[in-house]
Amino acid sequence: MGRMDGKVALVTGAASNPGLGRETAMRLAEEGAKMIVTDVDEPGAQSCAEDIKAAGGEAIAMKQDVCDESRWEEVMAAARDTFGGLDVCVNNAGIAVLVPIEEMTLDEWNRQVEVNLTSVFLGCRAAIRAMKERGGGSIVNLSSVAGLVGLGRCVAYGAAKGGVRIMSKSIAVEAAQHNIRCNSVHPGVIWTNMQAQATGLNDPSGLDASVMRIPLGRHGEPLDIANCILYLASDESNYVTGAEFVVDAGMTAQ
Ligand SMILES: NC(=O)c1ccc[n+]([C@@H]2O[C@H](COP(=O)([O-])OP(=O)(O)OC[C@H]3O[C@@H](n4cnc5c(N)ncnc54)[C@H](O)[C@@H]3O)[C@@H](O)[C@H]2O)c1
Repeated sequence: MGRMDGKVALVTGAASNPGLGRETAMRLAEEGAKMIVTDVDEPGAQSCAEDIKAAGGEAIAMKQDVCDESRWEEVMAAARDTFGGLDVCVNNAGIAVLVPIEEMTLDEWNRQVEVNLTSVFLGCRAAIRAMKERGGGSIVNLSSVAGLVGLGRCVAYGAAKGGVRIMSKSIAVEAAQHNIRCNSVHPGVIWTNMQAQATGLNDPSGLDASVMRIPLGRHGEPLDIANCILYLASDESNYVTGAEFVVDAGMTAQ
């Protein structure tokens, strides 16, 4: 008996490998969820779905730009047509353009807010409409430690991720009447393609936990985040909504 048996789950930004979306999709599928995996990177999303199926799970892949309002309706229609509806939505897709404020252009600011915050609004709205048909559901939004504390070169990224944090709480309050839960997850330093790009490193051996002030003394793995999302997606967290789950090895406890 899997922890996600009978549930249909969508994960956005599921192409990147290593990436939090892909690991989450694999983990939810491993526990029995039927998966819709999407990304702007269509071959990457297809490869994620193929890996899920190779491991014995069920999945479909779709090309999706999470900023495209009408595409959300098509993704929800596919969930309905293929699997009968949607129970879980993980708004994971994101970008990190880390630039000092004085060098940041308005276009860079707007793009960060569009991809990291506005898309999450679109995803939550579409998910709520779909989940009402199923009598409830669970939304998990990827924020960041940058949505909790101030970090250098994170003005737009942090503003968007802080927005995700409080928007998730507002949605939790509003959607509770429909038995729909909404929580945010705040990863610390997890080794993924985004982290490689942000640090300019080829592998995680160059990450210095003491410089990054990580009390547990090491970076995290995508599975550390996937397991947290699994809990929030499953019925084990039935009484949890409007909460922020910090998975950062103690970074923001200081
Ligand atoms: N890795 C970390 O340390 C870390 C820390 C805090 C928060 N996060 C957040 O977790 C989430 C996943 O991060 P990751 O490290 O796996 O990143 P990643 O860059 O490895 O993967 C992100 C995925 O999102 C996709 N994507 C980007 N823009 C998109 C769009 N407009 N529409 C659809 N897909 C799009 C990319 O193609 C990619 O597959 C992001 O929201 C990120 O901000 C990551």
